Amino acid sequence: MTAKQKNTTAHVKEEKMFLRFKLGQRWEHLILILSFTVLLLTGLPQKYRDFSWSQDLLSTPERLGLIRQIHHIAALILALEAVYHIGRALVLLARRKLPGNILPVWQDVLDAGHMLQYLFFLRNDKPKFGKYNFEQKVTYWFLFFGIAMMGITGFVIWFPEQFTQFLPGGVVPASKLAHSTESIVAAVFVLIWHIYHVHIERLNLSIFTGRLSEPEMREFHTKDYEQQIGQVANKTQAGEKK
Ligand code: HEM
Ligand code: HEM
Repeated sequence: MTAKQKNTTAHVKEEKMFLRFKLGQRWEHLILILSFTVLLLTGLPQKYRDFSWSQDLLSTPERLGLIRQIHHIAALILALEAVYHIGRALVLLARRKLPGNILPVWQDVLDAGHMLQYLFFLRNDKPKFGKYNFEQKVTYWFLFFGIAMMGITGFVIWFPEQFTQFLPGGVVPASKLAHSTESIVAAVFVLIWHIYHVHIERLNLSIFTGRLSEPEMREFHTKDYEQQIGQVANKTQAGEKK
């Protein structure tokens, strides 16, 4: 092995990786991607049923029935995922183990203002973020409420007789309109905002690999990095004292 190769091997060994997303979170995100994509692909032909591409797809009642069935199965998967996500959060909350780091706090507003100043060349430094920055919190909560709205309105359209037993009849056309319009808002949000932030602004694959490198942690999640490093240092000190 040449000296240069040895140097490279040593460098690769030295690069420390930090856990960003646990396996469960990565699975949840994968289920979101798959169910959301299927829902979009089976919903849009129904929304744009006057267009020729849609009529080619839905040319027979059987085809329309199949597309709707696939939409319903994907909807159940998304709904189960949402119930699991909220259920897990409630269990963690009851045990006082919910990290709560995705909750919006006043510091996020200050960070957003700080970032604007940086972008308009009024400051030289970027804000320091913790586990989730304000943009990631916006993504989470926008999609959280978007999916809740799609789920509620979707079940109203699916089971109109049951819902109109205790709600006024107007709730069905209102749900149809909301479901149809919100699908475009959610699609644009994911395809433009979310994909821009995770792949174009910088290539971030942490939701698939679960990990971030030390330089990435230091640059994009400085406070989280400092906290984790501090914890390791404290543990080491405690170990040495023993
Ligand atoms: C739990 C979640 C959901 C449920 C229960 C649900 C249910 C439904 C139902 C019952 C319909 C009427 C046609 C049919 O029977 O298939 C429908 C239509 C539709 N869905 Fe969903 N859906 C859900 C989520 C989504 C999501 C996440 C999207 C896209 C982001 C979506 C996009 C659409 C679209 C575009 C239509 C056609 C609306 C129109 O005709 O104007 N759905 N959905
Ligand atoms: C091809 C599609 C997608 C890719 C490549 C992708 C990629 C990513 C990545 C890399 C992250 C981690 C960002 C971080 O470091 O915090 C992330 C986070 C997240 N994703 Fe996705 N995602 C996709 C689709 C979706 C869809 C369809 C949804 C929901 C409907 C979704 C919801 C979220 C949420 C709520 C987060 C946490 C908030 C954040 O970190 O921004 N993603 N995604």
